[in-house]
Amino acid sequence: MKQKIRKYCFPLGISAAALVLLLVAVFAVFLFKKEQQPPTLRVGVAVYSQEDTFIHSLVQDFEQMAHQRESEEGIRINLNIVDAKSSQLIQNEQIEQLISLDYDVLCVNIVDRTAAASLIDWASEAGIPVVFFNRQPVREDLLRWENAYYVGAPAEQSGILQGQIALELWQNEREQVDRNGDGILQYVILEGEPGHQDTLIRTEKCVQVLTDAGIRAEKLVSDSANWSREQAAVKTTQWWADYGAEIEVVFANNDDMALGVLDALSELGAEEPYPIIIGVDATREALEAVQSGKMSGTVLNDGTGIAQALLELSLSLYQGENPAGRVDLEDGHYIWLPYRQVTQKELPGDGS
Ligand code: BGC
Ligand code: CA
Repeated sequence: MKQKIRKYCFPLGISAAALVLLLVAVFAVFLFKKEQQPPTLRVGVAVYSQEDTFIHSLVQDFEQMAHQRESEEGIRINLNIVDAKSSQLIQNEQIEQLISLDYDVLCVNIVDRTAAASLIDWASEAGIPVVFFNRQPVREDLLRWENAYYVGAPAEQSGILQGQIALELWQNEREQVDRNGDGILQYVILEGEPGHQDTLIRTEKCVQVLTDAGIRAEKLVSDSANWSREQAAVKTTQWWADYGAEIEVVFANNDDMALGVLDALSELGAEEPYPIIIGVDATREALEAVQSGKMSGTVLNDGTGIAQALLELSLSLYQGENPAGRVDLEDGHYIWLPYRQVTQKELPGDGS
């Protein structure tokens, strides 16, 4: 029997000592390889809904940039993207899970802005920095912990830029804008989700620009279409039946809803020129609509800049640096990416 085992184990005539040496060598190589593995930054990215056009492309940018930076920084960057499907309960569970897995940084696109305080407390107990983006917690919540941050675009600016686009058209192309020639600008507003800072502030500011400039403006109707192209199309169909050609300007809190207006108008066979339609985001499709003249303008919401700032902030927090060395930090907690007006003049190929 012994003979048999010997024969089986050492068919090549390797002695027991040589086998031990071999095992030690294999183990050493294994350890060495492990040592050689670059460090890994693990970021948990919790989004309110992956179906949202703006958030979807922001996340894509984040992934692409992280991938590119891996080789430059000599570290691995692992982004774990989780989708709350518009439920704060689901998002809470996702955050708890990411915390229990000891992620290095949490980037949170919170579903319900009023739920931020508990998320910040959980993160601070676990000592994991938390960076909110696009959906802004109130200031008192963010100041609960020094390692809570917000990356976003200043809502007020987007509303003002929308208002300025309308103002300029009213001043320079009055004949076309004032369809009924009564000297009053009749408008409708398609609002985003109720409670979102961009909904509240864009809605207020776009009109304020007009009234501040002494223009008489009359709201025909406004309602929420929850950032959704489909919901905006349904609302527009209704409004077109109620007000039709009286509508002179449509302010949409985002481009998807502005595109929903176009969908409805084309479905209804409405005659061109359409009323003035102004969105926010500068999505690819909205830029095409601006280029073709179907939309009068939009406002660039710098999702790429937000993604870049999330990456820089995550890297610096992971490496234990002061984030202010890499990003422009306001009040120690905020990173702001400016908005930009986009009308045909700002698009390439206009020739002007
Ligand atoms: C964008 C919207 C988007 C929303 C999501 C806003 O800043 O303009 O398109 O749906 O953020 O939170
Ligand atoms: Ca009018």
